[in-house]
Amino acid sequence: AKLGDEVITRGAGGETHQTTEGGYKTLTTQQGMPVADDQNTLRQGARGPALIEDGHFREKIFHFDHERIPERVVHARGYGAHGFFETYQPLTDLTRADIFQRAGEKTPVFVRFSTVAGNKGSADLARDVRGFAVKFYTKEGNWDLVGNNIPVFFIQDAIKFPDLVHSVKQEPDRDFPQAQSAHDNFWDFVSLMPEAMHMIMWIMSDRAIPRSFRFMEGFGVHTFRLVNAEGKSTFVKFHWKPKLGMQSVVWNEAVKINGADPDFHRRDLWNAIQSGDYPEWELGLQTFDQDFADSFDFDVLDATKLIPEDILPVTPVGRLVLDRMPENFFAETEQVAFMTQNIVPGIDFSNDPLLQGRNFSYLDTQLKRLGGPNFTHLPINAPKCPFHNFQQDGHMAFHNPKGRANYEPNSWGPEIGGPREAPMQGFQTLAQEPEGPKVRLRAESFADHYSQARQFYRSQTAIEQKHISDALVFELSNCETPAIRERVVSHLLNIDGDLAKTVAAGLGLPNLPKAATPAAQPKMDLPTSDALSILKN
Ligand code: HEM
Repeated sequence: AKLGDEVITRGAGGETHQTTEGGYKTLTTQQGMPVADDQNTLRQGARGPALIEDGHFREKIFHFDHERIPERVVHARGYGAHGFFETYQPLTDLTRADIFQRAGEKTPVFVRFSTVAGNKGSADLARDVRGFAVKFYTKEGNWDLVGNNIPVFFIQDAIKFPDLVHSVKQEPDRDFPQAQSAHDNFWDFVSLMPEAMHMIMWIMSDRAIPRSFRFMEGFGVHTFRLVNAEGKSTFVKFHWKPKLGMQSVVWNEAVKINGADPDFHRRDLWNAIQSGDYPEWELGLQTFDQDFADSFDFDVLDATKLIPEDILPVTPVGRLVLDRMPENFFAETEQVAFMTQNIVPGIDFSNDPLLQGRNFSYLDTQLKRLGGPNFTHLPINAPKCPFHNFQQDGHMAFHNPKGRANYEPNSWGPEIGGPREAPMQGFQTLAQEPEGPKVRLRAESFADHYSQARQFYRSQTAIEQKHISDALVFELSNCETPAIRERVVSHLLNIDGDLAKTVAAGLGLPNLPKAATPAAQPKMDLPTSDALSILKN
């Protein structure tokens, strides 16, 4: 950037004054009043007390005092960029979503990558899941695909999310560790929740220490639905495949990078985009019907499971290019509000109990984090298509209803009567028959916690398997309670005997524990089959 000519005057006390001379804009208060002196508070006498009459001083300090907003309760550390999504081919047979109707259509997007556990100021190379959240500003509203770089999740039911996050974040008495899964509470929790074991394999693998955001895959994780113009629904899993391929660092590198440059991932994305080396991903779909879903032993509504790509290949349907950094980090990356419930006509939810819970959580958390109901008025969150409704007022209202009517139905003409329903064009929830009685019950089809963990571990090369066992030994060696370490190994025995033995030896366990049995799982409040048949009758 070109430096300005140095025009400086000195004040009576030797302080620096830079003036508008040389073509600079006039400094004003937030009310627009021009400021003559930004170096000295108003005083009673040059060495006397400050005067409360000094509105400029009070406004400046008040605004500074209020700069911080709550950081995200999870995924606090993140970095975002603008770009576009380009549709390869119309997908009209699968979905009526406008974004998938025309080949070559470009839709603006904002993407935020993040780590999950660490605070806003934590280091980039933590061993952690990476968030991969995409906001598509489509012509029929914002669609948020709020995914991660790992295709499965720790838990099956959103009711366990606060427990999971509490266990992974700082322990409440000591407020550490800040950003690692290397402590008793985390291992205690996951070893009591065998459903986490598949995710544990991924999180101990190289996937959890990516070389940069540009070398990561992304996943929508849950099974969603696509719905076409005839109302036909198809299940879908969303995938992002990086054009650069996948790369990770090894743990020793991660530790050094964190020390030398905790901003390593942000710097990488900034430098790449600023130098015109735009990162690119392909969006891929796995689509399937109910019969295909029924052919598996596991449940496609279970977010701890994936559909193997060798059974159902991923079909590329478009590309994502990130080509512009935000002008202001806070206004865009910090204030962006992703919400899983932001879908558009042609996309719908499945009954995945984790997804259903998320659909409540994100709006709720944005209301608190962004200070009220009008966060959609912020440019980064506002749709880029026309939008009209009768919601009004609240803090910072920017888009109140135009005209006389703020209710409907009404008798006023189109100039003042406001918007009306669009029966054909609007969003239609897919009609579904309810299934069974109202119960707190997890289906049997969610019960196998080890097969896919084993499948993932055994799909790894020898060196990748060694990284997993090294990571388990390292992380568990920071876990001080022997019984918890043993409980983790008892699960590993159900995944892979050699892995369990390697980890047990690495930890110096005197004896190999017994393999965990389903009876060791926490009680899930399951009604007996007798109780259920009574319920049904
Ligand atoms: C934030 C992904 C499960 C609650 C995020 C973000 C991502 C993400 C990517 C960061 C968004 C951003 O960059 O601003 C996921 C995935 C999940 C999952 C892939 C499982 C498949 C859950 C569950 C809940 C939850 C089960 C709660 C029931 C939250 C909250 C935030 C968040 C409260 C903070 C949002 C904010 O303040 O902007 N999640 N999450 N997540 N997630 Fe999740």
